[in-house]
Amino acid sequence: MGVYDALLLIAALPALAGPGWCSVEVVTVAERAGGREFRPQFTGQSAAVVAAVGQNASLVCEIYHLGNKSVSWVRSRDLQILSHAGVVFTADSRVSASVAGDRATSRHLLHVARLRTGDSGRYECQINTDPKMSMFFNLTVLDEPVPQTVVELQGPAEVTAALGSTVTLRCEARYEPPPRRLPLPALDIHWFKDDQPINLQSAGGGGGVLVDTRRGSARAESRLQLRAADGAAGRYTCRAAGRRAAVTLRHAPHAEGEVEAMQRDQAAAATRLALHAAPLLLAIALRLLHT
Ligand SMILES: *[C@@H]1O[C@H](CO)[C@@H](O)[C@H](O)[C@H]1NC(C)=O
Ligand SMILES: *[C@@H]1O[C@H](CO)[C@@H](O)[C@H](O)[C@H]1NC(C)=O
Ligand SMILES: *[C@@H]1O[C@H](CO)[C@@H](O)[C@H](O)[C@H]1NC(C)=O
Repeated sequence: MGVYDALLLIAALPALAGPGWCSVEVVTVAERAGGREFRPQFTGQSAAVVAAVGQNASLVCEIYHLGNKSVSWVRSRDLQILSHAGVVFTADSRVSASVAGDRATSRHLLHVARLRTGDSGRYECQINTDPKMSMFFNLTVLDEPVPQTVVELQGPAEVTAALGSTVTLRCEARYEPPPRRLPLPALDIHWFKDDQPINLQSAGGGGGVLVDTRRGSARAESRLQLRAADGAAGRYTCRAAGRRAAVTLRHAPHAEGEVEAMQRDQAAAATRLALHAAPLLLAIALRLLHT
């Protein structure tokens, strides 16, 4: 995870970062950003692409500040360089490459037309920095229609929580219809708050954020547990394979301390009622004995 993500997260989730954590991390960000200013950077992360036989696939590698460096596409299976700086090196006429975007952010595309199952495998978008930089794509070509990915949050679209209470959000991602044959890329669930990734390393667990994800072959389930502290209200999104589902968290007007005090008062009232009721019950019991 990049240092930039950390900075964004702190800005978005002040209450989820532990006390005293913010200032330390911001210093680190400033130092590293200075040294990295003009180095190329991938804007995305390694990705899984699924397509059916006969379809066309395009792998998109977006790079920030490529400068005078160039991009190659390499097929991992046989380490063949498919293209370099937009020039195609393979005799396979189904393969082509293109470049789009501007000087600041360029997009380097590898196209494979009329897919065959044998095209499945890993492809590398490589920048000729020293050392080289790579981003990987797992291409899976299926000989059946590509299943849809369904992402669902369990429960209502809006959750109201008392300040200080613990909230648990549950998300499920699955392929539909269930694939007849595997492997499909494993589904992984990522959580976002107001479109910023919730990263546990940067949240440090100190903010009371917990994520528990179980991954099956064609299904994944994730639980996000957080404390409804100040600043925790907002829109929470879970994403998997480009799909998403969202839930809005709002604060209830009472803080937990007040709720506890209310519960104590109620409990005390109940005890008082029981004490007052006791002589009455005794009286009824005595009357029953007399009849
Ligand atoms: C791609 O495949 C490799 C090996 O099967 C796996 O380790 C990796 O996690 C996959 N990456 C993605 C983004 O699916
Ligand atoms: C690329 O640019 C850097 C500075 O931006 C420069 O130092 C280097 O010589 C350039 N390399 C080539 C091959 O032009
Ligand atoms: C797939 O790519 C080929 C070759 O680039 C092109 O002729 C064809 O129209 C494309 N098919 C689709 C469905 O985009």
